[in-house]
Amino acid sequence: MNYAISTDEFERLRSLVYQECGISLDEHKSPLIVSRLSTRLRALDLDGFGAYYDLVAQDPDGEEFTRMLDLISTNKTDFFREPKHFEFLRDQILPSLKRDKRVRIWSSACSSGEEPYTIAMALFDGAADPDQWDFRILASDLSTRVLAKAASGLYDEERVRSLPSEVVRRHFLKGKGSHAGMIRVRPHLAAMIAFRRMNLMDDRFPITSPLDVIFCRNVMIYFDRPTQERLVNKFYRYLKPGGYLFIGHSESLQWIHHSFTQVLPTIYRKEG
Ligand SMILES: C[S@@+](CC[C@H](N)C(=O)[O-])C[C@H]1O[C@@H](n2cnc3c(N)ncnc32)[C@H](O)[C@@H]1O
Repeated sequence: MNYAISTDEFERLRSLVYQECGISLDEHKSPLIVSRLSTRLRALDLDGFGAYYDLVAQDPDGEEFTRMLDLISTNKTDFFREPKHFEFLRDQILPSLKRDKRVRIWSSACSSGEEPYTIAMALFDGAADPDQWDFRILASDLSTRVLAKAASGLYDEERVRSLPSEVVRRHFLKGKGSHAGMIRVRPHLAAMIAFRRMNLMDDRFPITSPLDVIFCRNVMIYFDRPTQERLVNKFYRYLKPGGYLFIGHSESLQWIHHSFTQVLPTIYRKEG
């Protein structure tokens, strides 16, 4: 079956997505939505977008909503994506925390895990005595599908092809037999990370101790300005004085009201 979406159906879907996860779908993008979701409607044997809306709207925390989100947004990520952030973490932030040897970091839209595992590698390799440090990384995303992949720590070997071989050897195990062609994150990295589902639109986050760094990269581009502003000001509250916020290379806080000081183009600091 070939599907079409009416203006009313598109508007209802658009406002549901905005309300639940802050993603602002462009009003001219209805053909894109039709092409991305049609296969799903076909698989579910639905007769149109009205029925699909009813299905996702009845359970916005459910699996179908996650699938829809995965189809309309991107989960694209990489190990050491935007490497300057990890160098800054290792060379500037880590040394400044060496008195207490306690580091709390939140990777707030972690997708399939490459970002939090890279944070873990930067911390582990940056500390001369990693066993003496208390490293804790909270890694969260809205999509349960990507979180399951992240928590498995299992990746296609291709994903680390561009990393130096000693980094791969130190932090990954090579799959054998039925796992040939795959690599698994070593336990010393996995032990540093807790994965959980969290929605950046929530008013409060289940975070009790103030954070040293928040990574929120390559997700704010989907949010409109008021949503970005609310989120950035929430982040401010969860950081320690002196803590940092890292955003994606194509994102900027230029047009929103906030109290951070810019340190580098995509690195912001809560003064204190
Ligand atoms: C492009 S990925 C970014 C991954 C990683 N931060 C990076 O820069 O490589 C964007 C992620 O944001 C997640 N996301 C979208 N809306 C969200 C929300 N409201 N709350 C939490 N995560 C969300 C998506 O599921 C997706 O995994």
